[in-house]
Amino acid sequence: MKVSIIGAGNVGATLGMRIIENDTADVVLLDIAKNMAIGKSFDLLDAASIIGHERYIKSTDDYKDIKESDIVVVTAGVPRKPGMTREELVSINARIVKGACVKIKSYAPQAIVIMVTNPLDALTYLAYKVTGFERRRVFGMAGLLDASRFVNLIAHELKVPRSSIETCILGSHGDTMVPVISKTRVGGKDITKVLPKDKLDLIVKRTRDRGAEIVSLLGSGSAYYSPSAAVFKMIGAILKDSGDVLVVSANLEGEYGLEDISIGVPCKIGKAGIEKIIELDLAPDEKSAFKKSAQAIKDSVKSL
Ligand code: APR
Repeated sequence: MKVSIIGAGNVGATLGMRIIENDTADVVLLDIAKNMAIGKSFDLLDAASIIGHERYIKSTDDYKDIKESDIVVVTAGVPRKPGMTREELVSINARIVKGACVKIKSYAPQAIVIMVTNPLDALTYLAYKVTGFERRRVFGMAGLLDASRFVNLIAHELKVPRSSIETCILGSHGDTMVPVISKTRVGGKDITKVLPKDKLDLIVKRTRDRGAEIVSLLGSGSAYYSPSAAVFKMIGAILKDSGDVLVVSANLEGEYGLEDISIGVPCKIGKAGIEKIIELDLAPDEKSAFKKSAQAIKDSVKSL
């Protein structure tokens, strides 16, 4: 199996590390900053005999090296600076993503493409359009990460194991994300029965702002351990053909009453990519929040 990662920055290199150190696939790391990428791959390979794996990671700035990739992950772009929204990255990152997708289309026309660059949903839509691949093969990482942040904060508040919490977050990877409270359970109980409304509202807000909180604490760059973990999970679902249901940014063709948009929805993921889009029954307030989120993505796409 071969996974290529466009962008050998924090998310790309950490993802590369997860993939080779878990013996999942060989990796190509492509970056315009070729020497930086080569330095990182040397460093990662120097750890291989300590970790005990035989995987290979190759760094390059030449798209020929992504030929025959099973999966291509796009992380190339500029991360947020403190005080910035993901949306403010749109013009610069759209140009980078468009360039990458033209190359992916010509050098890895059979690959599944996982988008990571922000603003995630607008750029996933752009990647879908530029590659012209079937929609099952172009989707973005977001909901899985947002839900993991939500779970982490709930577990911390209630002092329960994270594994006892079930939830999902739909919609955009941005300020209008939609935590599905009606389907959030702790040890099988409705979350509204175990957490007072004011506390729950605060956790929802902290989840929404978690990326920005990390950006401001780091001082430079944005989150990468958890984003790379979420992409790694998606890659595992594809390569193992697991059929796991994961929230990814997928192009809708009528599902949830929406068309021509990439937005976070639960999808069954397997070796073909998105094998099924799952339509959840949402509560009325969640439905209207989801519509609002879709509108925010459409507005962001207009500025591409
Ligand atoms: N082609 C290839 N690589 C590029 C290009 C390009 N045209 N333009 C930029 N890059 C590379 C940069 O050289 C850098 O190594 O993309 C990498 C981005 O890495 P970081 O700056 O460390 O950013 P990172 O934290 O990895 O985030 C990347 O993911 O989570 C999102 O918002 C985040 O959009 C950002 C992306």
